[in-house]
Amino acid sequence: ATVSPPTPVATVSQYACQRRTTLENHNKIFTEAFEVLAESYEFNMNEGQCLAFRRAASVLKSLPWAVLSLGATQDLPCLGQHTKKVMEEVLYYGRSFEVDNILSDERFQTLKLFTSVFGVGPKTAEKWYCRGLRSFSDILADRSIHLNRMQQSGFLHYGDISRAVSKAEALSLRNIIDGAVHAITPAAAVALTGGFRRGKEFGHDVDFIVTTPELGKEDRLLLNIIDGLKRQGLLLYCDYQASTFDMAKLPNHRFKAMDNFSKCFLILRLESSQVEGGLHSVEGDSRGWRAVRVDLVSPPLDRYAFALMGWTGSRQFQRDLRRFARAERRMLLDNHALYDKNKKEFLAASTEKDIFAHLGLEYIEPWQRNA
Ligand code: GTP
Ligand code: MN
Ligand code: MN
Repeated sequence: ATVSPPTPVATVSQYACQRRTTLENHNKIFTEAFEVLAESYEFNMNEGQCLAFRRAASVLKSLPWAVLSLGATQDLPCLGQHTKKVMEEVLYYGRSFEVDNILSDERFQTLKLFTSVFGVGPKTAEKWYCRGLRSFSDILADRSIHLNRMQQSGFLHYGDISRAVSKAEALSLRNIIDGAVHAITPAAAVALTGGFRRGKEFGHDVDFIVTTPELGKEDRLLLNIIDGLKRQGLLLYCDYQASTFDMAKLPNHRFKAMDNFSKCFLILRLESSQVEGGLHSVEGDSRGWRAVRVDLVSPPLDRYAFALMGWTGSRQFQRDLRRFARAERRMLLDNHALYDKNKKEFLAASTEKDIFAHLGLEYIEPWQRNA
């Protein structure tokens, strides 16, 4: 790999959707530091600073060369005073003191631990921290704390679901979902999405899109899949959300809101015998099974391309795609649709390529969307 910027340096876009970002990260020492800072700002509800560090990390991830001096960053977008100060520390001392301080901070460590539980977000974690709770046993021993069903499952399966899911495990789950789907209707289709579609070897969960060719049948399809998994004894947890999709509504460019398609957040039981080479979790392998987090989403067929694009991620790539659409094209994009504010009309798409083309962007492959 090259270690210095080639000359002349091609301009790097401020938008992740105009950069090709593979999983090969030549600037990990910086991006890992930025990620800690972003998370710390997230815990402090400082969305602006959090996003600034995520954007900076994303720019560095896209570079095919390693940054070896501050001078090399001079033409790069999204790097402010604060990010450059952190980079300077990393360049000269091999570490950032600000990051070290955050990592050794009790509040940061506790919030990080609490939010690692399925169903616990920064707000709940903060509430528990303010009550003086510091460990899982503190939480489980506190009778005044009510855990919802999701959090109860999160604690119950903590060991399994905090361990990464391997590609082999994801492919085995695809066979299981495929089987459940085709028992219902042979015409339905299953696609692996999320991080695994971007080529990742490991993930925190496995994401699938399921579709049926008959418009309006997607809610029913999902319920039938859930039923099939339950009858096979594979369903350990299920949070099903019926569709609230309204095709007349304009796309919401804000990324934070989840889409309105029918979906479910599951914890499934995966048998070791079903996975080529065995389970990734060592403990689970001796037990013969492990718990895995699985997300299923079921858009109507005419929204398939938008849903696939949104669920393929990465989050930063999707954020910038929406930001680019709005700021550079006066278009509104979300997981449901693309709307042209100039023409005042919706733009249909049957493939991801159609969406990139509508936006006047070069096509970026899923494995180049690891922004
Ligand atoms: P790992 O699962 O950690 O390997 O990464 P991933 O990229 O698959 O992340 P995740 O499963 O959390 O999310 C998959 C995709 O679902 C993301 O890329 C997002 O596009 C979408 N998604 C997840 N959470 C949200 C959310 O809160 N809002 C929106 N709009 N989309 C989300
Ligand atoms: Mn995922
Ligand atoms: Mn997911």
